[in-house]
Amino acid sequence: MESFKDIIFTRSYINGEWVEREETFDVFNPYTEERIVSLADASEEQWEEAVQAAHNAFEPWKRLTAKERSSILLKWYDLLQENKEKIAGLMSLESGKVIGECLSEVDYGASFIQWFGEEAKRVYGLTIPEFSVDRRVKVIRQPIGVVAAITPWNFPLAMITRKIAPALAVGCTVVIRPSSVTPLTALALSYYAEKAGFPKGVINTIVNAEASQAGKFLCGHPHISKISFTGSTEVGKILAKQSASTLKKVSLELGGNAPLIVFKDADIKNAVESAITAKFRFAGQTCVCINRILVHRDIYNHFTKKLTEEVQKLKTGDPSLKENQIGPLISKEVLPKMERFIKDAQEKGGEILCGGTKEKNNIFSPTVIGNANHKMRFAQEEIFGPIAPIFKFDSFEEAIHMANDTIYGLAAYLYTDDINTAIRASEQLQYGMIGINEGLISSETVPFGGIKESGYGREGSKYGIEDYTQLKYICTGNVR
Ligand code: SIN
Repeated sequence: MESFKDIIFTRSYINGEWVEREETFDVFNPYTEERIVSLADASEEQWEEAVQAAHNAFEPWKRLTAKERSSILLKWYDLLQENKEKIAGLMSLESGKVIGECLSEVDYGASFIQWFGEEAKRVYGLTIPEFSVDRRVKVIRQPIGVVAAITPWNFPLAMITRKIAPALAVGCTVVIRPSSVTPLTALALSYYAEKAGFPKGVINTIVNAEASQAGKFLCGHPHISKISFTGSTEVGKILAKQSASTLKKVSLELGGNAPLIVFKDADIKNAVESAITAKFRFAGQTCVCINRILVHRDIYNHFTKKLTEEVQKLKTGDPSLKENQIGPLISKEVLPKMERFIKDAQEKGGEILCGGTKEKNNIFSPTVIGNANHKMRFAQEEIFGPIAPIFKFDSFEEAIHMANDTIYGLAAYLYTDDINTAIRASEQLQYGMIGINEGLISSETVPFGGIKESGYGREGSKYGIEDYTQLKYICTGNVR
């Protein structure tokens, strides 16, 4: 693995400068718990400078042609691809994500830059047939203004690029506030942005220890026109409230409680493979990870045995080594939460079929729990860890009812070989995204997002770019 020492930056990136501050905070390696580096803890004055810089850069950036903006974005994409190994190494170090998944995340994150770089040239408006003979009517899409992207630790790169690539493509400028747990990947991303040729002030990245004050500041700032947040439902609600004072546009990609329904005619081998991918990606720490596996009673024993066998084969350990599939959880603070899920399930009749214990280095062993029921905590709560509970169902109606019985509505998955079951289930599931016979559904080309308390707004695809524009209707009168 190529050394990444030369892309470790320790200061916020504001108006094209790396800005210093005496106060610092530390970033840790979740696997060894050692301090990686101390970072300058950006002050409120520096957050203000970042917003002002983005505000001043907005008009000139917006006035460039779409083709000019596109070519800078595509250069940025090339730089990320050329430095993929380095960026992935840095990401793995600060997040504990296994290196294979970090390499995929660089591809995934960069794909938004490429896709929106191309899409910049296709943000079309509309002409409307005139409503009187001397009028002409057109509708144009204009960039919304300065965008604040508040991003989580679980995708240190892709959750930033999924937000800012469409924003930059249409002519918005941005202030990024990455998680204080994984700020290094975000700063490296800014470094490559500068190399790609983004003018000063177009991209600003503020790193600071305390999330809530920075969030409140950005949500209340009159120069910020849109907040895009990925994180918990609890925090999403706070940010939405704080943004109401200036009536900002807000998009929220929040928590999930994804069901995987395995109907009795499912291809069990494929269903097990998908359950592994969609449950154990980043040790279960993604919003679209399966939270509950619902299996028809007739195939329950067969499916459960196969899944348990495959889960036992997952290799845990040092995330920087290519052979490992499961690394540490993000911090030792989340281990007791996993233990509470296990204890609660055992007390309510659950059977631990494998795992269920802490290993060293903040690793929680991949776990399968049989005989899960709706009284257990994970029936309603997001696990965000490597625990796979299996529930039984008897009928189509019961499966759909169980799957929808949650406040969340992000992603749901189903396995069946019956086209009618697939169509009916996908229509009745109350979720923003559905995987039919597929557990990996994320891509830059599709609208990612949820309903209910999983949030609103869509990221990726043509809908993802529209979110950063506002419509303007222009009427020309007295045309002779
Ligand atoms: C997330 O966990 O929020 C994002 C997952 C993905 O993009 O696939």
